[in-house]
Amino acid sequence: MPAGTVVGVNPMLTHLLDGLWADPHRFDPDRFGPEPSRLRHRYAYVPFGGGAHGCLGANFASLQVRALLRTLLERFEIRPADDRPQQWYHWPNCRPVGGMRLALRPL
Ligand code: HEM
Repeated sequence: MPAGTVVGVNPMLTHLLDGLWADPHRFDPDRFGPEPSRLRHRYAYVPFGGGAHGCLGANFASLQVRALLRTLLERFEIRPADDRPQQWYHWPNCRPVGGMRLALRPL
């Protein structure tokens, strides 16, 4: 690679690589359990980057999201508000194009 070449890493593509993930498009929270996580390459899952400049807020951000999801999922059933096919941005991070309308039903 010539000196000065700009190199970028796309975490979304890494998170879909067949060699690293079995059936990567399937919703499978168990793949993030302690044992599968221990057996995985340390840079297979990099939502917070990695190495010397890995995200300093990773633990804090993970804790916040878990606390929010636990609070919400204990109290509400959450579904898409309509059948509209959803499109996604994949850069700079994964998020729905035009937002995503959700319907919350109290449990
Ligand atoms: C879901 C939330 C977050 C995501 C997905 C995220 C993701 C990232 C990513 C991908 C990087 C670049 C890592 C690399 O270059 O390898 C980064 C860097 C960084 N993040 Fe986060 N981050 C999040 C939340 C936070 C929070 C809450 C804080 C602070 C409280 C934070 C502080 C930082 C800092 C200081 C860096 C720069 C580290 C360095 O260059 O040495 N981040 N983050």
